[in-house]
Amino acid sequence: MDIPIPPELVRILGQAGRLTVLTGAGVSQESGLRTFRDAQTGLWKQYRPEDLATSQAFERDPQLIWDWYAVRRSRAGEVQPNPGHQALVVMERRSSNFTLITQNVDGLHQRAGSARVIELHGNITRVRCSRGCGLVAAWEEIPGQLPHCPECGANLRPDVVWFGESLPRPALEAAVEASRNCQVFFSIGTSGLVQPAASLAYAAGHRGAVVVEINAEGTPLSPKADFVLLGKSGEILPELVQQTWG
Ligand code: OAD
Repeated sequence: MDIPIPPELVRILGQAGRLTVLTGAGVSQESGLRTFRDAQTGLWKQYRPEDLATSQAFERDPQLIWDWYAVRRSRAGEVQPNPGHQALVVMERRSSNFTLITQNVDGLHQRAGSARVIELHGNITRVRCSRGCGLVAAWEEIPGQLPHCPECGANLRPDVVWFGESLPRPALEAAVEASRNCQVFFSIGTSGLVQPAASLAYAAGHRGAVVVEINAEGTPLSPKADFVLLGKSGEILPELVQQTWG
């Protein structure tokens, strides 16, 4: 397939030392994972994801929320990283200074081979104590339906950020720093509706970075971006990497 990549972008990328990339659910769509705002299927059709991903929902019905995450987690484990994830691994290896920030909790960037990933919204493959005693563990280390914290006995919850919760501070600080100090900022596969992740592209642009959006459709960021490449990240990213770094 012929994907038009602006030659000017290839030239800029070839010369830029500091690249920062923010990804969202669209990057995992071609692996077979539904994006966050896609309709839910089956049993879960009656719920909006926004109503399940909250601490209030977990307090009300921990088993329901645990089951929803168990489905999402097993689905994430069944699928494979796609050419978009793989192109970002090449980008990391070829750039002198590269930062990958993701809103995705599926762990696919890490499985593709990205060495350093800033996880803004946590990771579905980990659990932590819902009371906040500090316990964090891999999900498989703690089997069972709605398991309890081995340290303090409270319910365990997925180690993800829910609506209304703060982002992990070290991750957010590193993301802001990398966005302010890059020469090119990519926003890929994200609707740009959730703060503070959505603000990172604007922070980069204000500091003079070239802002590039790769997305299936236009978003609120599009009018502010220097380049908007509309289409699938699993097709555009490999082509962009190939044209820039061969
Ligand atoms: P969304 O589901 O809001 O947006 C996904 C974006 O990807 C949409 O704009 C799609 O058009 C685009 N898209 C779909 N398929 C694509 C493809 N193959 N290639 C490129 N783009 C594609 O997901 P996010 O922006 O990641 O947070 O959502 C951000 C956050 O909202 C999530 O991390 C989640 C949710 O609240 C928490 O759970 C805290």
